Amino acid sequence: MCGIVGYVGYREAQPILVNCLKRLEYRGYDSCGLALLGEGIEVYKDAVRIEALEKALRPNVSKTGIGHTRWATHGKPSQVNAHPHTDCSGQVAVVHNGVIENFLQLKEQLIEEGHTFRSDTDTEVIPHLIEKYYQDSLEKAVARAIVDLTGSYAFAAIHAGRNELVVARKESPLILGIGDKEHFVASDVPAVLDYTDRVVYLEDGDIGVITADKVTYISNGKEIERAEHRIPWSVAEAQKAGYEHFMIKEIHEQPRVIRETYKGYISAIEPVTNLGIEKDTSITDILIVACGTSYYASLVGKHLIQSLAQIPVRVEIASEFNYSDTVLGKTWFIVITQSGETADSIRALRKAKESGCRTLAITNVVGSSATRIADETLYIKAGPEICVAATKSFIAQLTMFYLIALARASRDVRSRAGMILELRQLPNKVQEMLDREEEIAKYGKYLAKYENVFFVGRGLNFPIALEGALKLKEISYIHAEGYPAGELKHGPFALLTPNTPVIAIVTKDNTYDTLLANIKEIKARESPVIAIAGESDEEIKKYVDFVIKVPDVDPVFSPVINAVALQLLAYYTARERGCSIDTPRNLAKSVTVE
Ligand code: G6P
Repeated sequence: MCGIVGYVGYREAQPILVNCLKRLEYRGYDSCGLALLGEGIEVYKDAVRIEALEKALRPNVSKTGIGHTRWATHGKPSQVNAHPHTDCSGQVAVVHNGVIENFLQLKEQLIEEGHTFRSDTDTEVIPHLIEKYYQDSLEKAVARAIVDLTGSYAFAAIHAGRNELVVARKESPLILGIGDKEHFVASDVPAVLDYTDRVVYLEDGDIGVITADKVTYISNGKEIERAEHRIPWSVAEAQKAGYEHFMIKEIHEQPRVIRETYKGYISAIEPVTNLGIEKDTSITDILIVACGTSYYASLVGKHLIQSLAQIPVRVEIASEFNYSDTVLGKTWFIVITQSGETADSIRALRKAKESGCRTLAITNVVGSSATRIADETLYIKAGPEICVAATKSFIAQLTMFYLIALARASRDVRSRAGMILELRQLPNKVQEMLDREEEIAKYGKYLAKYENVFFVGRGLNFPIALEGALKLKEISYIHAEGYPAGELKHGPFALLTPNTPVIAIVTKDNTYDTLLANIKEIKARESPVIAIAGESDEEIKKYVDFVIKVPDVDPVFSPVINAVALQLLAYYTARERGCSIDTPRNLAKSVTVE
C-alpha cells in the first residue's frame, strides 16, 4: 500500500528519505520516487525498486524533501504514474496515500481551466489544486484544496522557495517524527525509528505545517495541540536479527508474543483474567468485523466465545458488512485489525459507532486510527510485524480471543483455572513446535512442486485451514483453498487428483471420527494427504500418506499449534520456490483503500 515520507531539517534529505522509504517497503509497492527542494523542485521517479532509485540518484544537498512508494490503484505501475506528482509549473510536488473519489470531476474542471495532466492517477489533482489556490502561503493553498477533495488522503506537499512541508490527513494514516531541529513525516512508525522514537499521530482533518524548528497543527482553521507519544519498539525489533526473512523471524517470536499479550490480563497469583469485561452483563451478543488473516482469527474467536462463554457471536468481513443491513441493536462491536488502519475495517467501525454500538478495537498499533475511533481498545503485543503475510499478529489475536472467552467463561472455577494454566503453557508448546522446523522444511520441499493444494479442518480448526491456505497462496503463489472437511464432497472433489495434495488438520476433539471418514473419501480420489496431528495420535498414520506431528495440547488450544505448523509449511514451500517471501507480488501490509 502506498507509503509517504518527508524530511525537513539540518541534514541532507536524500539519504534520509531513501532510508525511510526502505522501512516502508514491507507495505508492498510497485514503484517509488522522491522530490527534493532546491532552487526549484527536483523529482526522481525512474525506478521500480528503492535500491535502483538509490543507485540512480545524484548527490543533492537539499535539506527538505518528500518520498513515496506506490501501490497502484489508479493507472498501472509506470514512471509517469509514480509519485511525486507536480503541478503545471513544477513549483509544487505532492506524495499521497488514499483515494480521491471525485478526481475525475476535478480533473475535467482543472483541464478546462488550462491545467495539463500527465498521469492516470487520482493524486495528480492535488498539486494542480494547490497551484490553483496558491497566493503566498502553501498552508492556505492546501487548506483550500482539501475543501474540494472527497475520499481519503494523507499527503505531503512542498513548494519551490519554501523550506517547509505541509501535510494533510483524512482517513489515511499519517505520523510525524519529532527530532531535534528536524522533523519527519511518514505513513507508519517504522519509517522514522532510525531517527526518533517521538511521534505525533495526526487526526482526520488535520493540517501540519512543518519546518526544521517547528510544527504547527491546524484543524478547522484553528491552531491546535497534538500529543507526542514515545514508541516502545527499538529499531532492532523491526530488523531481521540474523534471520533470512522477516517472516521466519516473526514466526520464531511467537512464544514471546503470546506471553506479552496475556501478560497483564491474567493474574500470576490467581486463575482469573482482568480485561474489564468479567462482570459486564450488558454483553449479550457480539459482532466481530475484520479483513484477511484478522478475519480468520475472528472465526476462531467466535468458536471460543460461543463455546466457553455461551455468548452468541457473528463474524463479518468488513468490506461486506459495510454494504449490508446487519442489525446491530445492543451488539458489542469488535473490530480486529493488526495495523489499526485497514480502510474497510475502519469504515465498519465508524458505521457501528454511528449506529450507537459499544465498540472495541483489538489492534497491534498504538495510536492507530482504530484506537482513536473505538470506545475501548485492547492491544495485542505482537511488536512491529514487517512481513506482509501476518503470522505473529494472528497468534496474538488468537491469544486475545482466549482471554476474552476466558473472561466471560461460564465454566466452573476449576476448569477455568485449568485453561488459564494451559494458556500459560502455550508459549512452551509453540516453542516445541518451532523446534520441529527442520522436519516441516522437508514437507515444504515436497509441496513446492504442486500447483494446487487443499486445506481441510473441522470446527475450531476450520478457520486454521483457511489461514493455512491463505499463507500458502500469499507467499508461494500456489493455488490453495481452505475448506470445511465435510464440504469438500460438495464440489471440490471434482478437482481431486494425484496432483492435488490435501493438508488435513486432525484434532482429537468431537470432530475426529468424522474427519477420518472425510480423509478416507479424499484418499479414494487418490489425492496425497498430509495430516497435521498430535504426537500421541498413533491411529492417523493408517489413513494418510504423511503425518506432520505437532505437540499435544488441549484441543481448545490446537488452533495455535496447528497455525504455527502451517506457517512453517508455507514459509518453507515458498522458500523452495524462490519467492519474494516478505513482500509478495501485488500484496500490501496495510490496505488503506476500500
Ligand atoms: C492485508 C495484509 C494481511 C492482513 C489484512 C488485514 O491484506 O496483507 O496480512 O491480514 O490486510 O489487515 P489488518 O491490519 O486489518 O489486520
